[in-house]
Amino acid sequence: QGHDRDNSMGINLYNDEQLRELAEQVNAAVRDDWRAGPLVPGAKPSTADTVEVTNPADRRQMVGHWQPADSAVIAQAMDNAVAAQPAWDATPVASRAAILEHAADLLEQRTPAFMALCTKEAGKTIPDGVAEVREAVDFLRYYAGQARTLVAPESLPSPTGETNTLQLAGRGVFACISPWNFPLAIFIGQVAAALVTGNSVLAKPAEQTALVGFEAVKLLHEAGVPEAVLQLLPGDGATVGAALTGDPRIAGVVFTGSNGTALAINRALAARDGAIGTLIAETGGQNALVADSSALPEQLIKDAMASAFTSAGQRCSAARVLFVQDDIADKVITMLAGAMAELKVGDPGQLSTDVGPVIDADALGMLDRHAERMQDEARLIAQAATGEDTAHGTFFAPRAWELKSLSQLDRENFGPALHVIRWKADELDQVIDAINTTGYGLTLGIHSRIDETVDYIASRAKVGNVYVNRNQVGAVVGVQPFGGQRLSGTGPKAGGPHYLPRFATEKVITINT
Ligand code: NAD
Ligand code: ALA
Repeated sequence: QGHDRDNSMGINLYNDEQLRELAEQVNAAVRDDWRAGPLVPGAKPSTADTVEVTNPADRRQMVGHWQPADSAVIAQAMDNAVAAQPAWDATPVASRAAILEHAADLLEQRTPAFMALCTKEAGKTIPDGVAEVREAVDFLRYYAGQARTLVAPESLPSPTGETNTLQLAGRGVFACISPWNFPLAIFIGQVAAALVTGNSVLAKPAEQTALVGFEAVKLLHEAGVPEAVLQLLPGDGATVGAALTGDPRIAGVVFTGSNGTALAINRALAARDGAIGTLIAETGGQNALVADSSALPEQLIKDAMASAFTSAGQRCSAARVLFVQDDIADKVITMLAGAMAELKVGDPGQLSTDVGPVIDADALGMLDRHAERMQDEARLIAQAATGEDTAHGTFFAPRAWELKSLSQLDRENFGPALHVIRWKADELDQVIDAINTTGYGLTLGIHSRIDETVDYIASRAKVGNVYVNRNQVGAVVGVQPFGGQRLSGTGPKAGGPHYLPRFATEKVITINT
């Protein structure tokens, strides 16, 4: 009957007692005076106004301040990055990999401090915080290991007596632009991939999570990455992000975030004179979970709950739509409502909390507007209760609605919002068509005990990651390389064997001996 996947996101490293201890350490590491700003050698302090950070679970609580990069700081960073890249590229790959591995060790040692910051700046629950740090550590070690073999010069056949050698080298300066929902893991994953392949990096964290980005860059510097090789440019997308993607000295952009931003970056890169840029983009999804009448309802509910509500639904991988075959639909909907009634929504620093806040007032506003629209267009199945401690935070009570058709959803609803659609035995092709018609292609869950049905759906759905009879979140680096196709991304998967070559350029040297 398969394995229990509840512990698939790093929590299984700890027994209950250790987890309680960790939660205490996390709460002891909380501060209210975190500070961040550009990390750019030689730059004059930015003249931009300071941004205040408050706790998404309680907006009355101060977390810290950060200063955005202004245009002079960005210009200095660009000059530094261009000047520093050749020497970094010439550094043996084994040395670059060793620096990443040292950073992984440091990060592991400082798990509680990074979790504390992720909780206070990004609203991460304790299990989410563990997963966040774990994934960042895994990215550092995985890309270090991959680079040692991939980036090493490779001898090619020499049929004419000449020697042919293939070398990978850094492309130049990479802009790493990351989202707030994995402020440490995705931030570090992007940066590590770009650095280990020989690029210098200008890292732009999401404006909602600049403090985490700052601490991550400081840690990488401490581990040995030269300060001019990895620079931090906090700021918003329209100013710092656009300044980077519009500059022809940027050789490549690795971006994770919304589909709309990926398209804007693609246009910005194409509009530059005298430069062809590489774009590696990972974006959102309209992810489905398809259950047929052979699915085990108890397991389906457990996995649907994890898929829809882990991280308050703020995962690109999260299930947004549960297609359930009509024979079991009533039972499943009743059980779903029961399970949702048990969700504990509240302070993410409490070990017992299942669902923390959403990131900010804008995110909450979008979810509230969606809920209003659903009031007229769908049937509310369940709405979880929010705890007393949620009054001053940006909390959205997890909800599930029954819809008639997937076409009722016009966008990715990025939060704890699940939609259920019934299907009849002869409608499987329509279900698959509906999923493919969204244009997105990130994750897909399948719950079925019929191998032919699983194969049929998995082979026809145009998605990047298919999960069968388990939840569909929490891809593990090196184990479930992660990323989508079509509107969901440009291709090779983060944490997979084909990712690093995208950051590198190839050179073949032929010597007539
Ligand atoms: P977002 O697109 O709003 O922002 C992402 C980053 O892009 C931020 O750093 C932002 O400042 C920057 N940005 C915004 N406009 C820009 C511009 N014009 N030029 C350059 N940079 C710009 O996304 P978000 O709200 O931070 O993140 C949530 C989204 O990310 C969701 O759609 C989610 O599905 C997606 N996501 C995808 C993955 C994946 O691996 N596929 C992982 C996590 C999140
Ligand atoms: N990699 C993250 C997950 O699988 C987004 O949930």
